[in-house]
Formats: sequence, C-alpha cells, structure tokens
Amino acid sequence: MGFAKKDILDMESLSVDEINFILNTAEKMKEISERPVKKVPTLRGKTVVLFFHEPSTRTRTSFDIAAKRLSADCLSISKSSSSIIKGETLIDTARNLEAMNPDIIVMRHSLSGSSHLLARMVKTSIINAGDGMHAHPTQSLLDLMSVRENKGDISGLNIAIIGDIAHSRVARSNIIGFTKMGAHVMLAGPPTMMPKGVETLGASVTYNADDAVRNADVIMMLRIQKERQKSFLFSTEREYAKVYGLTKERLKNAVKDVLIMHPGPINRGVEIAPEVADGPYSIIMDQVTNGVAVRMALLYLLTGGTRNADTD
Ligand code: CP
Repeated sequence: MGFAKKDILDMESLSVDEINFILNTAEKMKEISERPVKKVPTLRGKTVVLFFHEPSTRTRTSFDIAAKRLSADCLSISKSSSSIIKGETLIDTARNLEAMNPDIIVMRHSLSGSSHLLARMVKTSIINAGDGMHAHPTQSLLDLMSVRENKGDISGLNIAIIGDIAHSRVARSNIIGFTKMGAHVMLAGPPTMMPKGVETLGASVTYNADDAVRNADVIMMLRIQKERQKSFLFSTEREYAKVYGLTKERLKNAVKDVLIMHPGPINRGVEIAPEVADGPYSIIMDQVTNGVAVRMALLYLLTGGTRNADTD
C-alpha cells in the first residue's frame, strides 16, 4: 500500500487501512530505537521544523528524537523565540518557513483549526501536534499502537476515557480513532466537563466513574485542563479525586488484565493515584516509548516512504 497523504491533521481523515499502515510502520521503527546505534540514514537531506506555540515535553521531544533517529535535520522554534511576539501572523510565519523549503512542519497551537488553516496555506507537509481543544492525532496513533501491542487487537475492546472530556483534544482524537478501529468508547466525567452532543462521535457517556471502570478493558485518565477552562467547573481537587480519580480502591472493580493509560502530563493524586500510575496495569511509559516510533513512521511516510519494512 502507498501512503499518499500530504498532512496529518486529525483522525477523521485517516482510513482504517491508513491507520494500520502507520501502526505497522511504527512497529518496524520501534526496533531502530532498541539498537545500540539508534540511527538510520533514511531521511538524510530532509528538514523537519518543530513549531510549538504551547508547552510540550513528550510530543516535542519525541518528534525531535524521531527526526534525529532517521537522520533528518531538525530545528525547533517556539512562540517566545519567534517573531510572532513582534506581531507577525501565524500565516506569515508559516509562509516564511515554507520559503526555506523544509519537508515537514510539526505544529502545536492553542487555536483549534490552526493546523488545517496552515495545511491549506502552504505546500509543506503539516503534522498537527495538538491544536487547541480539537485534535491530537499523533497522540491517538501512539495510544492505538500501545493498546494493539498489549491486547493484540483493538476491535471489540471497551475503552473508558475519564476526566475533562470537554477540553481534551486527546479525548476527541481517541474517540474517533478507537471507534474507527472497532472499539467501544465510554466517556466519564463531571457534567460540567462533558461536551453536549459528544455521543454523535460514536461514544457513550456516563457521569459515574465506577461504571466506566467496571466495564473497561482499557482505562484512559485525563487531567483537568485548567488552562482552557473559562470558569470554575469543579469544587476542589480533593473532591474531584474522590469522585473521578483512579485510585487503588476504584481499580478493584476493574477486569484483571485492564490497561491503565494517560497521555501526560499527570497530576498525581488528582485524576490518578501515584500507585496506580506506577502500578502493574499501567502502560503510561509504553505510550511515551511508542510516541517516538509513531512519529518516526509519520516523518518517514510523509516524506515519501511507502514500504512499511523499509527502515534499514
Ligand atoms: N501528551 C502530550 O501531548 O504531552 P506534551 O504536552 O508533554 O507534549
């Protein structure tokens, strides 16, 4: 199968075959990161620009490592180090970057839809590394990879996503990604953090965390995104933790081979207890490791790689 996409913007625009192709390629890429010398010449001569308007630890670092493991030239610009603080618009910035002829621009931005806008304005490939509350497709792909790796098949699994659904681009991308791959997604959280009409994306909704935990093969916990909330949507962190946090006590009702996930950053003791985040069911660090593999696969495929084993 070829991979003909210019951009990676959201999970809606990826077919099941394309998702499987990306995950298969990422599995091959993962092996490179396990070698004593973690570098192949595959993307020598290619240029990747990381353009991050919002803070990031995992996404930015893993794209940087992914590019370097494939021998691409990779450079990073942030809002504070760019001329955006002098009043240059996003589109002007992108056009100027395009004029330097990079192969891929990876962008994170607080504005929902910003990656789509850029993709229409420039010929360079755009990868959405998170746009506002809209989408985080590379996170969803690494989550799918982590579940597939641990469970063998995604189809038929019950996935519980618990927390601040309304402000989460990870939730939105994962509802679409997991549903597309045949899983059943149940959302749980306070009514104030549950977007109206979210069921139309194919998920079911409960306001009871215990119901979500009891029925789940996979439990994905999300942090409260205070930076995107415009009003007080919960009383105290202590009360939130009691009602919605994943504690050892609450986990006793889960199936015995449940997987615990979290995209990070974690607020320990709020949405997840430290002993659960670090416990035997947690695959949170697998998610981080697979983030490098998925991003290597995307850089490779967007720059013309088509054979999922062509990673020597
Ligand atoms: N999961 C995630 O996007 O983490 P960062 O914000 O650290 O990139």
